[in-house]
Amino acid sequence: MPALRSARDLGLVPDFEGKVRDIFDLGSELLVVATDRVSAFDVIMNDLVPGRGVVLNVMSLGWFEHFADVVPNHVLTADPAKFPAPFAAHADALGGRSMLVRKADRFPVECVVRGYLAGSGFKSYNRSGTICGQPLPPGLKLADRLPEPLFTPTTKADEGHDLDITFAEVETTVGAPTARALRDLTLRLYGEGAEHARSRGVILADTKFEFGLIDGRIHLIDEVMTPDSSRFWPADAVVPGREPPSWDKQILRNHLETLTWDKAPPPPPLPQDVLLRTAQRYREVLEILFPLEAAAWRKYL
Ligand SMILES: Nc1ncnc2c1ncn2[C@@H]1O[C@H](COP(=O)(O)OP(=O)(O)OP(=O)(O)O)[C@@H](O)[C@H]1O
Ligand SMILES: [Mg+2]
Repeated sequence: MPALRSARDLGLVPDFEGKVRDIFDLGSELLVVATDRVSAFDVIMNDLVPGRGVVLNVMSLGWFEHFADVVPNHVLTADPAKFPAPFAAHADALGGRSMLVRKADRFPVECVVRGYLAGSGFKSYNRSGTICGQPLPPGLKLADRLPEPLFTPTTKADEGHDLDITFAEVETTVGAPTARALRDLTLRLYGEGAEHARSRGVILADTKFEFGLIDGRIHLIDEVMTPDSSRFWPADAVVPGREPPSWDKQILRNHLETLTWDKAPPPPPLPQDVLLRTAQRYREVLEILFPLEAAAWRKYL
């Protein structure tokens, strides 16, 4: 299937356009379309990574299914033939990259969990020896496994960067029982997801979930354990003290670092080979973690 920049190119005008997703508000439901847009350093590139949206969507579907016994989720259907009008008429362009979901009342918290030291968690540890107020033993290196996975929530900012918050702040925001439920679910999903990944030679270093209320019950929503919301490392390539290779936009970021671009719009044009190698990287991790789902949705990839 050809790459998709925007649902607008199909004559469909979204109610909300995120960096990656075009969202249609259908009242009590949403149609969420993962496009092939890609951002780096918070700037949306002009070029597309073909099939990236399909990988993100199919991987989320795989995890929703994997966790169906642990937590209910927002998915109604990903079968484009079952989408309401006018979307079903675009089944070829939307298939594999879209899902019809139940609209949730979102908790204003990003439920981050870290099993390894990386990214902003590593920066915080270096500054203070803690992450989200939780002390860690001294002497840990980048990419070291933490003594146990940590729940390190952040705010969900509409603009700008999410900020670390303590568990007590989550309790103030959503109430103590809900805060405990979100933390326990986050740690359980991470544990089970990391185990699935580990059995396929992949380390799930950290990830981020969103939850919301549907019919008064906590549901898993948004995207789940994709390369956009998680760090996936090849288990055999992790060397503490060094930045591990990861299954995400690393090829693209590395290319951008070789330019004199100031990381502000407009983005530079990207070489075809960087885009295709990035696309390949996304497909690869889907094939490793969810080979059956990858096969089932292959015609859209
Ligand atoms: N079931 C749901 N009900 C309500 N909102 C949802 C649901 N599922 C996902 N969302 C919201 O839809 C949006 C998904 O869009 P997208 O991922 O493109 O944007 P973003 O998260 O704002 O940006 P980015 O992921 O690039 O940081 C998120 O704001 C997410 O919270
Ligand atoms: Mg998002």
